[in-house]
Amino acid sequence: TLAVDAAATGPAIDPTQYGVFFEDINNAADGGLYAELVQNRSFEFGPADNRSYTPLTSWQQTASGGATGTVKVVDDAERLNERNRNHLRVDLAGTGGTTGRFGVVNSGYGAGIALTEGRRYDFSVWARTDRPAGTRLTADLRTADGTVLTAPLGITVRGDRWTKYTGTLVPKVTTTAARLAVTAAGSGTLRLDMVSLFPRDTYKGRANGLRKDLAEKIAALNPGFLRFPGGCLVNTGSHYAYEAPNWERRRSYQWKDTVGPVEQRAVNANFWGYHQSYGLGYYEYFQFAEDIGAMPLPVVPALVTGCGQNQATDDPALLKRHIQDTLDLIEFANGPVTSPWGRKRAEMGHPKPFGLTHLGVGNEENLPDAFFARFTEFRKAIEAEHPEITIVSNSGPASEGATFDRLWDLNRRAGVDMVDEHYYNSPQWFLENNDRYDSYDRNGPKVFLGEYASRDNRFANALSEAAFMTGLERNADVVKLASYAPLLADVDKNQWRPDMIWFDNHRSWGSTSYEVQKLFMNNTGDRVVPSRASTTPSVSGPITGAVGLSTWATSAAYDDVEVTAANGDTLLKDDFTAGASRWTPVAGRGTWAVQDGAYVQTDEAAEDTLVTAGDPGWQDYDLKVKATKKSG
Ligand code: AHR
Repeated sequence: TLAVDAAATGPAIDPTQYGVFFEDINNAADGGLYAELVQNRSFEFGPADNRSYTPLTSWQQTASGGATGTVKVVDDAERLNERNRNHLRVDLAGTGGTTGRFGVVNSGYGAGIALTEGRRYDFSVWARTDRPAGTRLTADLRTADGTVLTAPLGITVRGDRWTKYTGTLVPKVTTTAARLAVTAAGSGTLRLDMVSLFPRDTYKGRANGLRKDLAEKIAALNPGFLRFPGGCLVNTGSHYAYEAPNWERRRSYQWKDTVGPVEQRAVNANFWGYHQSYGLGYYEYFQFAEDIGAMPLPVVPALVTGCGQNQATDDPALLKRHIQDTLDLIEFANGPVTSPWGRKRAEMGHPKPFGLTHLGVGNEENLPDAFFARFTEFRKAIEAEHPEITIVSNSGPASEGATFDRLWDLNRRAGVDMVDEHYYNSPQWFLENNDRYDSYDRNGPKVFLGEYASRDNRFANALSEAAFMTGLERNADVVKLASYAPLLADVDKNQWRPDMIWFDNHRSWGSTSYEVQKLFMNNTGDRVVPSRASTTPSVSGPITGAVGLSTWATSAAYDDVEVTAANGDTLLKDDFTAGASRWTPVAGRGTWAVQDGAYVQTDEAAEDTLVTAGDPGWQDYDLKVKATKKSG
């Protein structure tokens, strides 16, 4: 029975209530939304990003017609600039006459470079040569076994000073597995850097732009806001970078590294274990938000590392610098073109301000008091210069009760504008917590539900999220903003499931959760009409479905993780003998069925399944998770 009180007036619903959260997780940026087709274009990949990387990752040597030579990635005084330190030194032996060619081939992302017949692809490279007469360079697209798919693009490199060369390649076939070859004839030393290939057809045709199918899927959601760039990667450098001698790369996301000409942007070891080129940077995020009509919502690091690495930086000078960086960010977004950072925005192509109104400080903070002390400094400085900005504070992960309560208490007492909440739970939890915000203080800080998802990508998950979202909408006076997370995932390389949109190197598809988000974002109401529903339960009886279990842990924090059932059965166990230092799915995960009162593993191969459709929720099984801390 549904009783609707049409005469009553419920809270107004902001058109921005539902939005998207883009984090560079699951290879969402390089090889994902960022349309660059060359992987490791500036030869900066290395073990600080991921132990399996080298500066030649994704590159191979190639030779034809008797030409020989050597290639080597060097970091010497001849570098392109101080922030782009490595380049490729090609020493040509001159053994191939005028027709033989020696050089390198890039294999792109995933299966290779995806090309569409007849479309235009913009090639560029920074190069220099020690040959006074110049070096003849050729760029072409080819198959893995060397069949050339385009008319080769000829370029003469002249002079021993770095110069950018450009040209266009038009493939004669459609393929998903091409390679880009850059080869040269003759002898001498040729230096190459920033070898790049972009489809001309990016989203809205922007240079240094975004992959069209992915950007269009996000735009089709009609999001009210775009939160970026993270997530855990905001506060914390790469796990791999914790290992000496890579300490200097253990840094939080610094927005200033990500703007300006791409060849001058720094690179970073991504928190999620891969290389981050920053080709998709703050300018591109703001531009994308504008292009899809979403309010931009950047998040800056608060100098406390959450996400399992809980450390607070005690460095007043660094804190001051980060606060100044945040003020500069507001100027970059909103300042006049006469201001230093407003000028930078204009130089990049956008003299008009981006209209920043909201800004987040910190993400999933696990050290409540340390975070709040630093947040207070940020807040004081921002409010003094920009009282018009809504500052979003943090509540830590909702799963960590004491931290969450302490942070909410601190936020409430300080009267902050808005608090970011995150949670990932079972579908059952979402069904049972539709009323979560009914009891929130109407006069306290507003809620930004920055991250949530029910843990799988099945229909039941999407349905439970939709049910939960009706509770968000009913409480639109408290829950001002909400975004599902994560947004994007490479189907072959990902660190987190479930996700909203999946992709490989040429296709993308929305999950059932994507459809729910699209439904809500494209049909946001103006105002809540109070209503009440009642029903008689129609489902009862014993539970017969399978239960999938998984957990994530890191040996940086724990020696052992063990999940046991109430009857003492061990369901999952991992002692991290392999010494994993990053978040890893615990071995032994699988699908478990309840048979004759015992747990039986039915499918060892099933991964990352917390609950299956129809499962009433893992908490009903009274499971215990025991994590043993590392000694010391
Ligand atoms: O959305 C994936 C991760 O979940 C985010 O980086 C982090 O904030 C949360 O733990």
